[in-house]
Amino acid sequence: MTTDFLTWSTALQTQMEAVLSHHLPSADIAPNTLHQAMRYAVLEGGKRVRPLLAFAAGAVTQADPARVAIVAAAVELIHAYSLVHDDMPAMDNDILRRGKPTCHVAFGEATALLVGDSLQTLAFDLLASHKLNNDAIQQLQMIKLLTHATGSRGMAGGQAIDLASVGVELSLPELEFMHIHKTGALIRASVLLGAHCGQPLDTQQMTQLDHYAKCIGLAFQVVDDILDASTSTATLGKTAGKDAAANKPTYVSLMGMSDAQALAASLHQDALTAIDKFEHNQRLRELADFIVQRSY
Ligand code: IPE
Ligand code: IPE
Ligand code: MG
Ligand code: MG
Ligand code: MG
Repeated sequence: MTTDFLTWSTALQTQMEAVLSHHLPSADIAPNTLHQAMRYAVLEGGKRVRPLLAFAAGAVTQADPARVAIVAAAVELIHAYSLVHDDMPAMDNDILRRGKPTCHVAFGEATALLVGDSLQTLAFDLLASHKLNNDAIQQLQMIKLLTHATGSRGMAGGQAIDLASVGVELSLPELEFMHIHKTGALIRASVLLGAHCGQPLDTQQMTQLDHYAKCIGLAFQVVDDILDASTSTATLGKTAGKDAAANKPTYVSLMGMSDAQALAASLHQDALTAIDKFEHNQRLRELADFIVQRSY
């Protein structure tokens, strides 16, 4: 009998905590404060959705879980870096993250900048230092995939558009472009990297998995926008109502709450349809459900 989603995800969250802790430099090693701040930004918090997606995709391709754990740690390190920088005064200027003071509030802005720099390079160090695929060329492609998802043509580019869009009324395609980049790209990479740790998929299967990943990546940020406008700070562990207060264009500001909810539901359905012929797709289906039904 397979375990239920809560048991599966809780066990992996615990495992990820240990994997991340193992690969993060100890706070006993110099420069101690930087290492302490890196650990503060990564450990003890977060839903670990991107690692869970990597494991769920790895289940489809029968990947070695030890390999998936490395790509899962890499994407979570990139994500944690993006949150540290996203919260800084020059970006969203937030003081609360994962229920604790943001990294720059706890350690100062200069250290927070360096935390982001160091988490990002640690992520690529992990991918370059562990065998993730029997084919070395394929492993290089995996590293390249994460660079593209993270850089100016991916997440960082999406963040640049986000900052340039304060007070601007974007069209729906422009808003979608921003969300696909700032959040969708890393979520998509998490799915694809997990899958690439296992047996190769044929072109059609890869296209379907990619479609799932794109739909769920966009849905994730649509739901983030919805929760920002509808959920309490205590539940979110980050300041609620920030998007409206900062005059950011979101799916809620552009379409209204109920249309944004309908869009999330339709992306959820598209994601499920894309993978419905896959064997071993249970965790991907459950994660699609979690991403749109979550309350934080
Ligand atoms: C928040 O991501 C930032 C976005 C990309 C929307 P998560 O909602 O995954 O944050 P944690 O990792 O659970 O804290
Ligand atoms: C953050 O989007 C996206 C990245 C960190 C790349 P948001 O600014 O909406 O995330 P929260 O709401 O602060 O978590
Ligand atoms: Mg932001
Ligand atoms: Mg933010
Ligand atoms: Mg948000």
